[in-house]
Amino acid sequence: MSHIGSYDERVKNFSWSISEKELDYKPGDLINIGWYCTDRICEQGKGDKTAFIWEGMTGEERRYTFHDIRRASNTIGAFLKNQGIRPEDRVCLFLDRVPELYFGFLGILKIGAIAQPLFSAFGDEALLVRMKDAQTKAIITQRKHIAKVRRIRDQLPWLEHIFIVDYDGKHPLQEKETAFALDREKPVEKLDVYSTQAESPSVLHYTSGTTGQPKGVKHVHYSLISQYLTSKWVLDLHEDDIYWCTADPGWVTGTSYGIIGPWSLGITQCVLDKGFSAEAWYAFIEKHKISVWYSAPTAIRSLMKAGEEAVKKHDLSSLRHLTSVGEPLNAEAVIWSEKVFGLPFLDTYWQTETGSIMISNYPDMRVKPGSMGKPFPGIEAAVLDPATHEPFKEPGKIGLIAFKPGWPAMMRTYWNNEETYRAKFKNGWYLSGDRSSIDKEGYFWFTGRDDDVINTGGHLVSPFEVESALLEHEFVAESAVVSKPDEVNMEVVKAFITLKPGVETNDDTELKIMNFIRKKLSPLAMPQEIEFVDSLPKTRSGKIMRRLLHAREWGEEIGDTSTLENEE
Ligand code: WTA
Repeated sequence: MSHIGSYDERVKNFSWSISEKELDYKPGDLINIGWYCTDRICEQGKGDKTAFIWEGMTGEERRYTFHDIRRASNTIGAFLKNQGIRPEDRVCLFLDRVPELYFGFLGILKIGAIAQPLFSAFGDEALLVRMKDAQTKAIITQRKHIAKVRRIRDQLPWLEHIFIVDYDGKHPLQEKETAFALDREKPVEKLDVYSTQAESPSVLHYTSGTTGQPKGVKHVHYSLISQYLTSKWVLDLHEDDIYWCTADPGWVTGTSYGIIGPWSLGITQCVLDKGFSAEAWYAFIEKHKISVWYSAPTAIRSLMKAGEEAVKKHDLSSLRHLTSVGEPLNAEAVIWSEKVFGLPFLDTYWQTETGSIMISNYPDMRVKPGSMGKPFPGIEAAVLDPATHEPFKEPGKIGLIAFKPGWPAMMRTYWNNEETYRAKFKNGWYLSGDRSSIDKEGYFWFTGRDDDVINTGGHLVSPFEVESALLEHEFVAESAVVSKPDEVNMEVVKAFITLKPGVETNDDTELKIMNFIRKKLSPLAMPQEIEFVDSLPKTRSGKIMRRLLHAREWGEEIGDTSTLENEE
């Protein structure tokens, strides 16, 4: 299986014009992701091919051809336009993984507006800060999530429309609310796709940082050039594949590789709008004969826990290519998958900011279990010495993962936050905020993040966001949020709290605080443990030393605390 030559050759002969040519795009042309994912595939004569196989919570199944998704995205686009949505307006998608999420995403792009997908399990606060920052003009949501929107809409003066995709007429609509039922709208065959260009904004994804509020990562239509070719060369998608990306489009994997990349290649995609269970997942693969699967280490570890017997109950022989992203993929998981599926999970590394896969394993390159692989052709990646921001000359040293800017899918800025964006660059390199080493053969080995952001089951959680929610509770004097080890999620959130005088340390206090923050945070950001302490360790300038608490949780050497105390 290993003929490394092919990867090396691709690297040697690489130019992004390979992707541009395949997409019939020339610099200066118009480019619209919504059009590429639907109309162009139909123009190629593949309109009757299945584009989308969707399964809901209760097992109902729906199938859509490329003609169907072209029409559905046209219909939503036309509706939004009639409602006054203009190019570059931000339209938030706050939906479970229902078909309207996927078609709405493309419809928004077709009319030149900016899609802002947000995970539907977000609490009020998480939703509010992201919509405030983006000055979102419209939100598309479902009945089951409308209460959250209603609670925060008075704090969102820019929000003009709340569209409900499954309104049942039972309760009166409130101010700004409009019902929109895709199956009752007149299908729009022809839509004037807005004349977006390479640098026209497309998607705004929010990602968590260590300090401050979540940052809006701005992407442009030209990102397609990266997403198309990485889908082809890394996900190895072929014409007849049935592809399943398990990520929610609230996160970048669910848009770059759960919508854009595969559909721009005219591939059949499956979506399961249901929580995780090994049995349901295997049954889904078997039923739809899924051949290419893009998932995440936490899910793989959960499958490992469910055991080999669960695998044996199903015919999974359709699987041909397995890939993973989001967190470190342990060597054991790669070896296990090779044993039970006969195929290794290939690790891929990238970020919301990079928009497309940056470092990866490839179908034709030898896999070293535990390594993230090598840079995608055309990507100049390095590990920098943290002291000088120069690439290390010799292999094996741990430093900062950095990329030379300029690949098509790279973010263009952080929304309203050019300063933070600029701070991501040093010495002509984009700093990812992660650490790794490179071995003699050029393989990257991830070692950890370079900041306090917690990666729980592939979801980035800002300690600041959790601490802020805790501090709003009347009992809480101070708080510090760090990660602690977890078998399945790698790490989970733990909060240290000092209470205000007179408040008792007991289960009731904990419950009250938990119930309070549950309304504000997403379930993924919820602390798995609260520990009440008399005081928190601080630097001399009064900053909380999260690193010390972190080291304690992980049983690491705390080292010389006097230097920590001197930290500013
Ligand atoms: C982490 C997800 C180890 C990393 C596409 C990165 C990984 C952050 C890997 C981005 C991997 C992603 N091995 N860590 N293969 N892939 N990460 O923005 O810390 O949600 O910076 O994008 O996840 O997460 P984000």
